[in-house]
Amino acid sequence: MTAIPLGVPRRLVEFTLDGQEARVPEGATILDACRAAGKDIPTLCQGDTLTPKNACRVCVVEVEGARTLAPACSRKAEAGMEVRTDTERARHSRKVVLELLASSVNLSTTPRAAEWIKEYEAKPDRFGPDAARVDEEPRVDNDLYVRDYDKCILCYKCVDACGDQWQNTFAISVVGRGFDARIAVEHDAPLTDSACVYCGNCVEVCPTGALSFKSEFDMRAAGTWNEAEQTETTTVCAYCGVGCNLTLHVQDNEIVKVTSPHDNPVTHGNLCIKGRFGYQHVQNRD
Ligand code: SF4
Ligand code: SF4
Ligand code: FES
Repeated sequence: MTAIPLGVPRRLVEFTLDGQEARVPEGATILDACRAAGKDIPTLCQGDTLTPKNACRVCVVEVEGARTLAPACSRKAEAGMEVRTDTERARHSRKVVLELLASSVNLSTTPRAAEWIKEYEAKPDRFGPDAARVDEEPRVDNDLYVRDYDKCILCYKCVDACGDQWQNTFAISVVGRGFDARIAVEHDAPLTDSACVYCGNCVEVCPTGALSFKSEFDMRAAGTWNEAEQTETTTVCAYCGVGCNLTLHVQDNEIVKVTSPHDNPVTHGNLCIKGRFGYQHVQNRD
C-alpha cells in the first residue's frame, strides 16, 4: 500500500484566473492553479521535485497591476490577484523565449518543444546559424550516461539535483559567465575523473535530453529509439532495503532506461547507481 502524505491542512486562496474564480491551497503557484484548471502553460525549467529557478521564462503570465510578466511556475497565488494567462503580451514573450532558446540550442529531444514553437509561431532560424551557443560533440566518456551540451538550456536543474536539493554530491556546477556559462564538472574533466557517483538524478530532471542514458543515446543514433513502443512498469528496487520505486522502460523486451516516480514520498524520483543503472543482468540471457 502506498502511503499518501496528507500534510497540514492549508487555507484556500481565492483569486481570478482568466476571468474565472480560482481557489488553490495557500502556497500553491499560479502554475499549480493553471494545471488544476486544465490550462496548458509551457514550462521548461520548472521541475516538480525542485525549487523553481525562474531560468527559462517560457511560463510567463500577466498579473493585473504588475509592471512585468510573472513566471507562473514560481509566483505564488495571492488572494484577490487577477491573472491572465493567454494575453497578447504573454504569448509574444513566450514566442521570443522559444525563438531565443531554439536558435541557440538543439531542442530536438525536448518534449513538446516542437508543438510550442508551432503554437506560438516562433521562428528559431531568424537569428541565423551564428546564434548557436555551444557547438560541440556529445561527451561520451562512460558507459552510463551522455552529456550533450548542445541541448543544454542552462536551467540549473541538474546542478540543484546534484547539489543541496537532493544528492549533496556537488559534482556539477555552472562555470563561466554570460555567453561562456556552461554546465561542467570540476576542471571540465571527463565524468570518470569527477566526483560524480552516477546516481543519474541529473538525468532524471534534465528537461531537454542534454543528459541522457547511454542506452537511449545509442538507440537514437541507430534510429531504433521508439517511445511509442515502450512500456513502463513500476516496481521495487531489490538491491537494498530502502525500497526505492523503479520505473522500467522496456522496448523489444529489453530495459532501455530506468526512471523513478516523482510522487514517491521516500525518494521523490531519486535513485542510486544500482537502482538507476544496474539492470543489465536482467537481460543477460547467457
Ligand atoms: S544539462 Fe539539462 S538539467 Fe542541466 S542545465 Fe542543461 S538542460 Fe538543465
Ligand atoms: S535505488 Fe539504491 S538506495 Fe534505492 S533501493 Fe535501490 S539500491 Fe537501495
Ligand atoms: S518554467 Fe517558469 S521560468 Fe522556466
